[in-house]
Amino acid sequence: MPGFAPLRPHAPSSMTTILGIETSCDETSAAIVIDGVEVRSNVVASQVDLHRKYGGVVPEIASRAHIERLDAVIQEALDGAGVAPAEIGAIAVTNRPGLVPALLIGVTAAKTLSWAWGRPLVAVDHIQAHAYSPAIGLSDPPWPAIGLIVSGGHTSLFSIAGPCEIELLGATTDDAAGEAFDKVATILGLGYPGGPEIEKSARAGNPRAVDFPRTMLGPDSLDFSFSGIKTAVLYHVHGQGRTSGGLERLSPAQLADIAASFQQAVIDVLIRKTMLAATRSGISTVVLGGGVAANRTLRSALEAACVSRDLSFHAASPAYCTDNAAMIAALGYHRFTAGHLATLDLDAYSQGQALARA
Ligand code: KG4
Ligand code: ZN
Repeated sequence: MPGFAPLRPHAPSSMTTILGIETSCDETSAAIVIDGVEVRSNVVASQVDLHRKYGGVVPEIASRAHIERLDAVIQEALDGAGVAPAEIGAIAVTNRPGLVPALLIGVTAAKTLSWAWGRPLVAVDHIQAHAYSPAIGLSDPPWPAIGLIVSGGHTSLFSIAGPCEIELLGATTDDAAGEAFDKVATILGLGYPGGPEIEKSARAGNPRAVDFPRTMLGPDSLDFSFSGIKTAVLYHVHGQGRTSGGLERLSPAQLADIAASFQQAVIDVLIRKTMLAATRSGISTVVLGGGVAANRTLRSALEAACVSRDLSFHAASPAYCTDNAAMIAALGYHRFTAGHLATLDLDAYSQGQALARA
């Protein structure tokens, strides 16, 4: 454990320095963030190579890798920021939602450092941190905003009044958007993780080549469903296979057309629902976060939709889209200053915090 020695009381300072720790899935990450906006370091050790051959994250492998790497990742975050443990004001850690064996590694490390250094502990909800991530680095907070959060495990629309005031407007009823990207990439024989591979393949394709379904769940619904489009891609590929001899006989151009058409269908649904949420709420700012927000076609299409309706738009910068501890430390700062402190019996949970629907 880095700097594992009792510290003197935290010297009062005008700045609050937060150490963030994130181990909810397959990224081991630690970050130092000042006052919720200034990222001094953000170290992310990806485990993607360990999980690739299984085509998904294996919880047992993830938690073992977190154990092996977390100490060094925390030390690197402190060194990279040029911050000593004595300067840390509080320790923020993801404790939900995620893979419990993976979450417990970060939670245990955070509790240990909180006790050893005598610093407050702050629990952070991973999805709420994704929702906050577009605000990192902005001098003027973007709230109130409609937040579209698209990740491997979640697809949600939020009404965000402030860092700690977030209300769920809609969520996926089956697959998350990122999960659909990953599953379709598997169907198309592309690599893992699927999102970046689909995006790469789609660049050479025609987004109007195949008319995949846009599932809206009714004209007023802010919920999502992406399992139908995944099945439609599967049937389409099988159909192509009967006439041309199987997936391996699909030309790179056909594959690119399918990838581009799938991506466009998902983006169309995401944009229509986000615009509906903005219109209905009267909120004039839209923010975008989560792993799928790294997708450049989604970013520019949502931005164009916002511009055409006179809405402000802020996407999380790509480094803060996929899982990272900077967003945990950044939201942790606001939870800390609002007095939401955790105790040393903090536990980890697979589900997110219950957020009321509007
Ligand atoms: O937020 P994240 O790192 O982890 C979760 O909290 O789930 O999101 C990971 C998801 C994966 O499904 C991955 O395929 C997707 O984000 N993703 C993308 C892109 N980069 C990552 N999806 C579409 N286009 C991308 N460029
Ligand atoms: Zn995430």
